[in-house]
Amino acid sequence: MDEPALTLSALEKQMVFDRDKLQSIIDGFIVAYHHGLTNDDTTMIPSYVSRLPTGAETGTYLSLDLGGTNLRVAAVTLLGDGKADIEQKKYVIPAELKVGHVEKLLDWVALGVKELLGCLGIQVEIINEKEMYMGVTFSFPIRQTDINRGLVMKMGKGFEPIGLEGQDIIELLQAAFKRQGIKIHISAIVNDSVGTFVANAYKDQNTIVSVILSTGTNASCICQTSSISKHNFPHDSPEYMIVNTEWGIMGMDFLPRIKYDKILDLQSNKPGFQPFEKMVSGYYLGELVRLAMVDYVKNFGLFDGVLPNGLEKPYNFTTKHMSDIGSDKSTEYNVILKIFTEDYNKSPSLDDRRTIHELVLRFSRRSAQLSAAAIASLIKLQCPDFPAVERDIRVAVDGSLYHRFHEYSSWMNKTFREIQRIKEDKRTKIVPVEDGGCMGAAITAMMYSH
Ligand code: GLC
Repeated sequence: MDEPALTLSALEKQMVFDRDKLQSIIDGFIVAYHHGLTNDDTTMIPSYVSRLPTGAETGTYLSLDLGGTNLRVAAVTLLGDGKADIEQKKYVIPAELKVGHVEKLLDWVALGVKELLGCLGIQVEIINEKEMYMGVTFSFPIRQTDINRGLVMKMGKGFEPIGLEGQDIIELLQAAFKRQGIKIHISAIVNDSVGTFVANAYKDQNTIVSVILSTGTNASCICQTSSISKHNFPHDSPEYMIVNTEWGIMGMDFLPRIKYDKILDLQSNKPGFQPFEKMVSGYYLGELVRLAMVDYVKNFGLFDGVLPNGLEKPYNFTTKHMSDIGSDKSTEYNVILKIFTEDYNKSPSLDDRRTIHELVLRFSRRSAQLSAAAIASLIKLQCPDFPAVERDIRVAVDGSLYHRFHEYSSWMNKTFREIQRIKEDKRTKIVPVEDGGCMGAAITAMMYSH
């Protein structure tokens, strides 16, 4: 790749989007959504969730959320007033399980479930399958054929378990539960964006879009079932269905990718896959900045032209570093000094710190602008007949990038309001959701268990 290094001002030109540029991105997404609904099997995936909760439901349901970074297992007690209590356990998924044999991964998942049951004081031996229902949130693309059937498609975020692609994840999970002697019936499987939609709908029936900004990024929306014309749903199918956009896959033909996006893509284990995700999500943001820093060392004398120890290693500069740097208000960029001294054994000059700060801001603000444009485009897609569209519109957002990167949500909201030409959040609100995956899976299990 011999594209020249991009100076800070060249980066500014290519990465800060004006109204026209944002509009062309929005238009690109709208075409991609229609293509997904009519042709493409890998995007706009029907979720088979066509019931929405009213908020009055009660009962306790289990959920399991297998994400890009963590496994969460939970018992969710719906309280009937749009609120719920969650008892949950969270485990970081060990790196070797992400690329090892799928049985190993799922045995580890089953052990997590066993541990949760133990904490709840439930003896595995006495569970009656007909009484314990579980919903599963799976944060990877699956081709669903029913509410509790789904074949795993190509996975991103560094996941490549041997023997999983093309398999029904529910069958494999039930088999892993059986190996551990756990008798639980899995009633539903949802993508995390679908789960987040359902979780927010439990407290607010005006939810029409849900978004995940985390290790990966994705969104779901409500669509008229008849508009999913790539599938022949029977005539008596429900009128609406939540659709998992898998928007991370979109954009190869319309996103303004720059030099570092292309390098990251070519060096990834799935070149060409998920271009939008690679520009936006937490798994990749730090790597984009690292690639830019490496280029700046070579071409612009960053760190006096010598790469600090450890910075040569792919993915060794993280989005957590970025959010710490992004929130630092000191004029001396003290957080950068601390990170580089502690993690890379290098004390950068003030000029270097200024450059690093600028790079971090460029990539994270671009991510926030891109997600605002993608949300705005999804709102435009909405079926005008859906009851909520008559009233207020709620966009539910979950994910560590959104919740923990302090400045991110304000950048995103600002661009969103500029696009919508609204001064403040009135009719259309972007609302934060926590534990959307766990909550949503449990609520969906509740809706589809009886
Ligand atoms: C990735 C997955 C998608 C998931 C998203 C957020 O984009 O492909 O299924 O929803 O990450 O976790």
